[in-house]
Amino acid sequence: MKIKTIIATFGVLFSVHAMADVTNAEKLVYKYTNIAHSANSMYEAPSITDGKIFFNRKFKTPSGKEAACASCHTNNPANVGKNIVTNKEIPPLAPRVNTKRFTDLDKVEEEFTKHCNDILGADCSPSEKANFIAYLLTETKPSK
Ligand code: HEC
Repeated sequence: MKIKTIIATFGVLFSVHAMADVTNAEKLVYKYTNIAHSANSMYEAPSITDGKIFFNRKFKTPSGKEAACASCHTNNPANVGKNIVTNKEIPPLAPRVNTKRFTDLDKVEEEFTKHCNDILGADCSPSEKANFIAYLLTETKPSK
């Protein structure tokens, strides 16, 4: 119940403004950290290291293939990525490089959940999301 209240409260706050990307990304980190913390009080702060490990970790996609987030997004989220399925370019995920990321929070949350389901076969956990976005915020330079 507690978590639902948090979601409802933030949902209202966040749908009002479509604000600048980096601020939004930081808000999402804060929000997911709170949710993760109420589910597990041992989780107190996002881990950039764990976010990076998550991003590069290989997992089985629902189609049975092995892939990591990095397979399409490259091992640096500040880089332009390439979809391994369609070969199409993917604009950088890092909000400090791609200012179009995280502009519409409602859309980001929806897409993030859908994307996790597509790729991992399940939604990413709040702690994974907090760690991952915290990590994205640290990547500022494309490596190619
Ligand atoms: C098979 C290729 C592929 C893999 C693997 C992949 N992605 Fe993506 N990702 C995409 C595509 C395509 C898009 C949509 C294009 C865009 O937003 O620029 C995208 C978009 C995103 C977005 C932006 C969503 C938004 O609304 O702006 C995030 C965040 C993201 N991916 C995170 C991840 C994470 C985390 C993983 C690993 C669990 C992952 N991706 C694995 C292809 C992939």
